[in-house]
Amino acid sequence: MAHLTVSNISKSFAGLPVLVEQSLEVQEGEFVALLGPSGCGKSTLLQIINGLVSADSGRVVLDGKDITGRTGSGRGMVFQGSDLFPWRTALENVAFGLEVMGVSKAERTRRAMHYLHMVGLDGAADKWPHQLSGGMQQRVGIARAFCIQPSLLLMDEPFGALDVQTRDILQDELVRIWEAERKMVLFVTHGIEEALYLADRILVFSKRPAHVLKEITVPFERPRREDMKLAPEFLELRREISDLLRHDIKA
Ligand SMILES: Nc1ncnc2c1ncn2[C@@H]1O[C@H](COP(=O)(O)OP(=O)(O)O)[C@@H](O)[C@H]1O
Ligand SMILES: [Mg+2]
Repeated sequence: MAHLTVSNISKSFAGLPVLVEQSLEVQEGEFVALLGPSGCGKSTLLQIINGLVSADSGRVVLDGKDITGRTGSGRGMVFQGSDLFPWRTALENVAFGLEVMGVSKAERTRRAMHYLHMVGLDGAADKWPHQLSGGMQQRVGIARAFCIQPSLLLMDEPFGALDVQTRDILQDELVRIWEAERKMVLFVTHGIEEALYLADRILVFSKRPAHVLKEITVPFERPRREDMKLAPEFLELRREISDLLRHDIKA
């Protein structure tokens, strides 16, 4: 069974505590949003889970394996800005992880094309990153993360740099792809609406050092639809979270 357990993670930068004894769990097939103000420590926590930043203490266990401080194995990551290799085509970027794993060229091309198709970029397989818009680059990033078929997807404000219309479209696409392939997801955002629209569960983080102010089980059924953002229950929850965050920032 897929499962992520993060226990008692602490991290300081030059004496500044960013995370103090943070713990969380993600269950198989669950989409969890980490929602919190800028600078509270969301990216730091995600990078610790990804193994790119080392924690001062605590453990990260994925599918029963202790992966604390180790990169690779089981995790796909999507960042805010495009971090595609500029010297590789869209297809080659998506296939990169499989190449590292030693998957044959025919097989990795087939799988990469499948995920490019899922993000609506069939026609862009041979384009270079600089020929793609910001939204298309993020689509390639999403296809690349899914392509290695990770147990856990880590997303750090993947739509944060996009215009509102493009962001809404990509949110819908992510929901659709994820509903077809339910990986565990940890999705970092400071967007309340985004967290409510995408996630099964939201961990609302305080200002730094981040701790969980509230855990919210999102009550909206799937498949999610754009018009639910205007439903009274949606707006009410949005406001409740907004009040909670505002209160914490002022405290
Ligand atoms: N490599 C680093 N060196 C020093 N301080 C850092 C480093 N990375 C993050 N920080 C600090 O840790 C805090 C949390 O940062 P971050 O995790 O990026 O927040 P968030 O993603 O929630 O906006 C911020 O005060 C930031 O300046
Ligand atoms: Mg961040």
